[in-house]
Amino acid sequence: MPLGRLRRRLPAPPIPPSPVPCRAAHSAVRRIVVAAAGAAVDPSTVVRFSDQLAWELDPDMRRELEARADELAPWLQGPFLLGGDLVIGGSWRTDGRWLALGREVADDLRGRRVLDVGSNAGYDAFMFRKRGADHVLACEPAGFHYQALFLESIYRSGVDFQQIGWQDLDPDEHGRFDLIHCNGVLYHEPHPVALLQTIKRMLADDGEVFFGSMMLADPEVSEYIRFVPSAYYGDPTWWMVPGRLAMRWMLEAAGLGVEHEFGTHDGPPGEFRVVNGYVRCTPREERLPEWRP
Ligand SMILES: C[S@@+](CC[C@H](N)C(=O)[O-])C[C@H]1O[C@@H](n2cnc3c(N)ncnc32)[C@H](O)[C@@H]1O
Repeated sequence: MPLGRLRRRLPAPPIPPSPVPCRAAHSAVRRIVVAAAGAAVDPSTVVRFSDQLAWELDPDMRRELEARADELAPWLQGPFLLGGDLVIGGSWRTDGRWLALGREVADDLRGRRVLDVGSNAGYDAFMFRKRGADHVLACEPAGFHYQALFLESIYRSGVDFQQIGWQDLDPDEHGRFDLIHCNGVLYHEPHPVALLQTIKRMLADDGEVFFGSMMLADPEVSEYIRFVPSAYYGDPTWWMVPGRLAMRWMLEAAGLGVEHEFGTHDGPPGEFRVVNGYVRCTPREERLPEWRP
């Protein structure tokens, strides 16, 4: 594609606000985010989020895409193929997480509405669209939203990227969803139960939730929540970490029944040991206090 057309397709996005609310974002700044063939990520192994992606990039277009991606750094999620051999590496291997998640999510999501809460640069949202979801709403309040818009300007997937937080989600405005994905948000959240209650409100009666979080690794403290008064390993955005049982009970109290856990693996090193993992939930009776109308 001639460079002129590319320029018209890619309006200059604003630089994302900083700081971004994730520790990994800070450490990612110093990383090289755009990797060519032969570097850390092999482009032939990267998911193609669009059938329209160019198999080769002319040098001017490649430079332009690379410059845009650099402007939008730091990238956490990845890898994202931009065409040819040009890949945004990111500091997380989000594709690795999909080895487990991909087995749990239906291959064919046609006819279903999907909500991704805390969607970052959009990796999961693009995956849900690739599996055929009719509508995907991706909710991300931070500057990562502009990374998603940049990628969407290339992929044209149709994901509805909105720069909003979970607090702005409203079933009357956005509708309810057959599948809700929310990973890595809970322990950054000062009001975790309110987050879960919102997810329940946004869920269709026969919907499902894939909920991922850091949890306490020590089984001895499974039913407890550990608050993080200052920081976890220097990251001030961690508020609390639930034990595995505490997370299950918190979800249940919010009206989400846990079907099973999957994808559990060691989390980042810090003052105490954590694991990162998912649960699949479906709606259950929400326990309401008797005094509530
Ligand atoms: C640890 S990252 C996880 C990103 C992504 N879900 C994933 O699994 O790769 C947490 C994300 O939640 C976003 N976030 C922070 N506050 C939020 C809020 N109030 N509502 C929705 N997302 C939020 C952050 O900006 C960040 O992108």
